[in-house]
Amino acid sequence: MQPLRLGAFAALRCPFCRADLAVAGRALRCPRRHSFDLARSGYVNLAVDHGPRRAAGGDTRAQLQRRSAVLDAGLFDFMADAIVAAVAPFSAASPLVLDAGCGTGHHLARVAAGLDKSCRGLGLDISRAATDIGARRFDNIAFAVADVWSDWPIRGAVADLVLSVFAPKNFGEAARCLRPGGMIALAYPGPDHLIGLRATLPLLNLPADKARHYRDRLRPWFAILSHARLRRRVEVDASLARDLVLMGPNARHLSTDDAAVHDAMLPVTLDVELIMARKSWPDQTACGSTSRGSSTSSRM
Ligand SMILES: C[S@@+](CC[C@H](N)C(=O)[O-])C[C@H]1O[C@@H](n2cnc3c(N)ncnc32)[C@H](O)[C@@H]1O
Ligand SMILES: [Zn+2]
Repeated sequence: MQPLRLGAFAALRCPFCRADLAVAGRALRCPRRHSFDLARSGYVNLAVDHGPRRAAGGDTRAQLQRRSAVLDAGLFDFMADAIVAAVAPFSAASPLVLDAGCGTGHHLARVAAGLDKSCRGLGLDISRAATDIGARRFDNIAFAVADVWSDWPIRGAVADLVLSVFAPKNFGEAARCLRPGGMIALAYPGPDHLIGLRATLPLLNLPADKARHYRDRLRPWFAILSHARLRRRVEVDASLARDLVLMGPNARHLSTDDAAVHDAMLPVTLDVELIMARKSWPDQTACGSTSRGSSTSSRM
């Protein structure tokens, strides 16, 4: 196994008994003999049924294909670049970057590569398809299937940076998994996101005042370092425009035909808000692990 992937797997703990997991051949095992096979591509499935807050299935293969087309075109690379620029001055030796809701690992891989060649990356996602694609694509990054709304299968205080990019947010677990002084990078769509397409297609509305909502939810554990608005105006063809719309939650209410754009090229605004915050919660023992019913995780 690639050494950086091996090093990232060392941050995992057993989802049943919370003891440390260790790589043993083609599986991860804990001292109590709970065992989790590595898939052929190299990801591990650590999702366990935690009852009422059990996650939905995550993104579909179709959404993943569309997101890959958009990400491979480099349209959102400015996000990872901004995160690297914000974190680089504080970066530790051989840092561990944990991406909660990592999808196929595009941003995680870019942030890890941008920080340091010894940087370890560990991606969690509920979608087996996403972790499978990520594990095939980035052999130096570790991927695990896990529900971000539940306890994360991560040892306490091991990560230097947690990424939450257009993904479900469980700030209590992020804080538990970060080292003292570690950081979270929280990226979510700003008010003008996809504004060019909103004029022609019936896209879902973006909730108002998300910034205040997230800052309030972060406050119990984090001190906000910066809050930036990253805006890019791009020209996309009809196919990429459809991918941009259907790679996200709009796929649940729009068909491929609904999302058809007839212009050859279309100007689109990408509007991303990026909050960087540092873990300020000093006492590791006080929290242990956030409970599943924690009212402090926030749904998107
Ligand atoms: C909009 S995508 C963003 C993916 C990636 N961060 C990116 O920006 O390309 C949201 C991701 O969250 C994942 N997801 C949804 N619910 C989840 C859950 N409960 N636990 C873990 N991942 C989840 C989806 O499968 C999907 O990959
Ligand atoms: Zn165990």
